[in-house]
Amino acid sequence: RKKVTIQHLQQMRRAGVPITMLTAYDYPTGRACEAHGVDITLVGDSLAQVCLGYDSTTRLTLDEMIHHCRAVSRGSKSPLLVGDMPFGSYHASIDDAVRNAIRMVREGGVEAVKMEASWEGAETVRKLSAIGIPVMGHVGLMPQRHTFFSGYRVQGKTADCALEIVQGALALQEAGAFAIVLEAIPRLLGSYITKQLDIPTIGIGAGAQTDGQVLVWDDVMSTWGGHKAKFVRQFGNVKGEVETAVKSFSHAIRDRSFPNDSESYAMPEEEWMKFLE
Ligand code: KIV
Ligand code: NA
Repeated sequence: RKKVTIQHLQQMRRAGVPITMLTAYDYPTGRACEAHGVDITLVGDSLAQVCLGYDSTTRLTLDEMIHHCRAVSRGSKSPLLVGDMPFGSYHASIDDAVRNAIRMVREGGVEAVKMEASWEGAETVRKLSAIGIPVMGHVGLMPQRHTFFSGYRVQGKTADCALEIVQGALALQEAGAFAIVLEAIPRLLGSYITKQLDIPTIGIGAGAQTDGQVLVWDDVMSTWGGHKAKFVRQFGNVKGEVETAVKSFSHAIRDRSFPNDSESYAMPEEEWMKFLE
């Protein structure tokens, strides 16, 4: 497969070719993104909930994130590899964000970082871009701020809030962001922001007119048993497959149909006789 670059994503945007982005959290999911033609692999901090069982992404540490980025990077080579900056790893100061983003690249093996930030993150985005670390912004619903916003709610439904999101996206672009995720905003707003910006927009619950779409692996595969957001479409039923296989496995052990002769090793008859003597 040909390597996906930021320039390539820009060309796709200009040509009106939708960009596909999917999350991955380990080597096999990274491999699947590689093998089946995904454009951008995202090690999302949704990792916290769908893989590690935390109740919020705010619990995820930078070390945990880097550990998973390393695994994904061993499997996902051709897609652009982006990793989420965990909560707390880019807020304290620009220097801190720089140090932590460098760890994501050097230790985690990601090519770019994503951060939940609007206008208030613009200076951080500017600094990271200036030192050559590409940044993807993330506006609209920011899951790391769910407590502040009293839950995971659609954003930008009022004119004031919509304007703030548009201005945030423009500020990130001006600061050098190479793309922006638009999460849980009205489709009219998703379309409007996409037209206003020169960089690709990747939507999740932002309607059909964004330059690309992203979903969480476990939502796509139906392996996540928690809340299913309005914008999720389940493209597979891996949970059903897992249930069938685990139950059949136990059943076959209990009724002694597993393993059969072809699943175990034979020994020459005469050797067995000798052994018994
Ligand atoms: O953490 C994540 O998986 C994300 C995407 C859903 C955009 O941020
Ligand atoms: Na995220």
